[in-house]
Amino acid sequence: MLLPITQYGNPVLRVKCAPVEQVDDSVTTLAQNMLETMYEANGIGLAAPQVGENIRLVVIDIPEDEEEGEEPEMATVNGELRPIRDIMPLIFINPTIEPYGKQYLFKEGCLSVHNIRANVSRPEFVRATLPQLDGSVLELDCSGLLARCLQHECDHLDGFLFVDRVSSASKLTLSKKLKRLAEGY
Ligand code: NI
Repeated sequence: MLLPITQYGNPVLRVKCAPVEQVDDSVTTLAQNMLETMYEANGIGLAAPQVGENIRLVVIDIPEDEEEGEEPEMATVNGELRPIRDIMPLIFINPTIEPYGKQYLFKEGCLSVHNIRANVSRPEFVRATLPQLDGSVLELDCSGLLARCLQHECDHLDGFLFVDRVSSASKLTLSKKLKRLAEGY
């Protein structure tokens, strides 16, 4: 089932989300609906507050690079180096992430912040512990788009949006657009 995606200005996006204590049918159904909603919107990640639920649940699906001859994006998954396509889609609750390495700028967007993309500086690598719905735990060490996406989505769980993390110069540039979004949500 497709869910409405909450938009910038909605206070639900600004709450520190509660841990998922128990994975029951409502959580698995919500995760499935979030995936469906994300695919429909052509997104690569979606956090529960983006569909109005203040719980620590995230879905991610990073598509493969379609360019012929490109090396697949790799990550260390439970101690083993694997293409990230093997673990997509990712569905997890109560994540802990530890970003590390050099900061770099990358243009981000968000399904909850319509028509705005902006450079955000974040560390290149992430170590993550991602509890799965079935009770198992995925230990990840990754870089690239997946590391970027994990940081962006985990921010959502604490009520942060990528536009909070842009430089003060771009904040100034974006302020009018954001004000308009907040009024119209
Ligand atoms: Ni987002």
